[in-house]
Amino acid sequence: MAGPSRDLLGTDVFDEAVRSTCDVASHCKRYAISVGYWKDPYIEYFVSHPKERKAPEISRGYYARVQGVGRLLKAFLEKTKCNCQIINLGAGMDTLFWKLKDENLLPMKYFEIDFPSIVSRKIHYIKSKPPLSKPIMESHSGETLLIDAHGLDSSRYAIIGGDLRDLPRLEEKLKKCHMDPDLPTLLMTECVLIYMTTEHSTCLIKWVGGMFRSAMFINYEQVNMADRFGQIMIENLQSKQCELVGADACRSLDTQKERFLIHGWETVNALDMLKVYQSLPPDDIKRIEALEFLDEKEPFEQLMQHYCLCWAIKDSQNLGLADVTL
Ligand SMILES: C[S@@+](CC[C@H](N)C(=O)[O-])C[C@H]1O[C@@H](n2cnc3c(N)ncnc32)[C@H](O)[C@@H]1O
Repeated sequence: MAGPSRDLLGTDVFDEAVRSTCDVASHCKRYAISVGYWKDPYIEYFVSHPKERKAPEISRGYYARVQGVGRLLKAFLEKTKCNCQIINLGAGMDTLFWKLKDENLLPMKYFEIDFPSIVSRKIHYIKSKPPLSKPIMESHSGETLLIDAHGLDSSRYAIIGGDLRDLPRLEEKLKKCHMDPDLPTLLMTECVLIYMTTEHSTCLIKWVGGMFRSAMFINYEQVNMADRFGQIMIENLQSKQCELVGADACRSLDTQKERFLIHGWETVNALDMLKVYQSLPPDDIKRIEALEFLDEKEPFEQLMQHYCLCWAIKDSQNLGLADVTL
């Protein structure tokens, strides 16, 4: 495991590299959206158009991820009739809140958490761009909306600066923003847990399992990290000072599931992203495959076998969450 190496200014170099992954993800999404893989009218307010083109494998991978996570999310919203909350952990510049508002699918409250510097940046964009601030104002009722550089708390949307490895403080901040442990809750981590040690991610999973009576945890990230391709992925990131310290839990679909099962989650499913891609409606696949030419299928398939979608359920309120599937 990489220790907390600090530069001359005392900044944690490892955490800084992790924070920079937020920009990589946003640029890849913005590029795929600009080519027409899926629609997102809000991404342009958070990230400029990337200068270089991205490989079609990457955009197809993002498409499968957005569709896969979206299908699970919509099934959860349907089961709970939106009488629920969503907590997006390591949300980066995600635009889900705004898209759900447009679709009239807002949960009772939508929370986002990320490192304070990422949150400050997102709040700056929200404050300065009416297409982002207006939906928050429109969905707000009652008391004064709380906003400063490090957090924003409105009736339906809250964004909190914090560290997912510091659970007591995280819990305190969430409770201050009126997180309700009795409401069915959807937790999401997309490419986040692998940047935390397996010990830290397991504590997070255990904490969530103990906090909520009915919950679904959607985790999207790397898998099969022990094989040659996985090792190359790890080395590539290491060369950019970014250590995948949680790679242990990403050895296989079984290790992905294990950390939920040992901490009391009742049902856990995991699929590699090639399976998720192949489960998409044939018309969707036909449409996106016509967008950009892909030379060879094999590198794409290999890449997709190194990412997975895992969803875990606990359902003390018997809402039928175990039926949620792709
Ligand atoms: C690869 S980005 C993904 C962002 C977003 N989930 C998405 O898919 O677009 C990983 C995000 O997790 C955040 N993150 C990683 N470790 C974190 C921690 N310990 N506490 C808070 N945020 C963290 C990073 O700052 C970054 O925004």
